[in-house]
Amino acid sequence: MTQTKKPPFSFEDLLESLAEGVIAVDTEMKVCVFNQSGEKLLEVSRSLVLGKPLGEYFKRNPKIIEMLKETLEEGRLYAEYEEKLFRRITGDTIPASITTSQLFDAEGNVKGAAALIRDLSGIKSLEEGTLRKERLAYLGTFAANLAHEIKNPLSGMRGAAQLLSRRISDPGHTEYLEVIMKEADRLNTILNGMLDFARPSKLRKKPFNIHQALDSVVFLLNDASSRSIFLKSYDPSIPDISGDENQLKQVFLNLVKNAKEALSEGGIIQLTTRAITEFHLVEGGSAGRMVSIEIKDNGCGIKPEDMEKIFTPFFTTKQKGSGLGMAITLKIVKEHGGHLKIDSAPGKGTAATVYLPLA
Ligand SMILES: Nc1ncnc2c1ncn2[C@@H]1O[C@H](COP(=O)(O)OP(=O)(O)OP(=O)(O)O)[C@@H](O)[C@H]1O
Ligand SMILES: [Mg+2]
Repeated sequence: MTQTKKPPFSFEDLLESLAEGVIAVDTEMKVCVFNQSGEKLLEVSRSLVLGKPLGEYFKRNPKIIEMLKETLEEGRLYAEYEEKLFRRITGDTIPASITTSQLFDAEGNVKGAAALIRDLSGIKSLEEGTLRKERLAYLGTFAANLAHEIKNPLSGMRGAAQLLSRRISDPGHTEYLEVIMKEADRLNTILNGMLDFARPSKLRKKPFNIHQALDSVVFLLNDASSRSIFLKSYDPSIPDISGDENQLKQVFLNLVKNAKEALSEGGIIQLTTRAITEFHLVEGGSAGRMVSIEIKDNGCGIKPEDMEKIFTPFFTTKQKGSGLGMAITLKIVKEHGGHLKIDSAPGKGTAATVYLPLA
């Protein structure tokens, strides 16, 4: 390649400015180029790897080694090959796309191989977000119709059981009828939850104090039987926010209830609020002043394979759960122009963070 005009930056600058990670090896598979984005993506410092065999610091990413080796030795090219990459420090994995090519000198001799690594985590979460929305919209209509159809005969059955219980004097028999009524009530609660979720709700927005709302939820759930400890860290500078107070209380109630249910005795629930000035999220792409409300527990955590299902209506791992709490929560938060983030590690705990816009 011949350059007609010299650019006002060096090729090194160019390499360092790329959003993609670049790794290049020489013919002995020793690392000779590793740019800044590569460092960030894989959480490996270049001072460690430059001049070292690729295998030494990338053991946990055997695919990169294999791809570069095949490219170098056999001239095989990978184009946008999608692979989960391991990050050295946090131990997370990120979805990435890898493209490789051989490197030649001016005479056309192979002198090495390079891999271009693109972080796909933003794109993936966007894809999952839209998919989830469509699925929820469909399920919402379906659930509302089903709930309606079941509620009427159910109330008929419950009423009949109640009438019958008045006529029967044998306590052994009335006990059975009470079971019928109790279970009918439980079903009715679930159906109301479904309708809550599916109904296009009108928000009744007015300014209210987020800390008072949180406190009222804690008051409701902090009964003597629970013995979980609540720790609060509230940012006093947060002004009143504009929202539907009852619905947002429902959000906090669902999240704190989940936290409580995840805890064994003596567990801790930590409530933290913060005012955030600049905030960007891939999904929605909103920026501006926001408040974050974090509800963190040190309970059982969520298994990675369950993570994407927790917002799906009826997904539950609990014997008596309806699996609607998180679906309703997400819906209300979105209707307020907010975001919901769940971080969880099995055995360590879960942090649910609600972001709400400040007017
Ligand atoms: N803080 C948490 N810790 C551990 N698991 C959680 C937590 N929050 C949610 N989950 C998981 O997500 C699932 C779905 O939660 P969701 O609130 O929607 O339903 P549920 O709690 O099972 O039932 P419901 O809220 O209707 O009583 C739960 O069953 C649980 O497996
Ligand atoms: Mg719940």
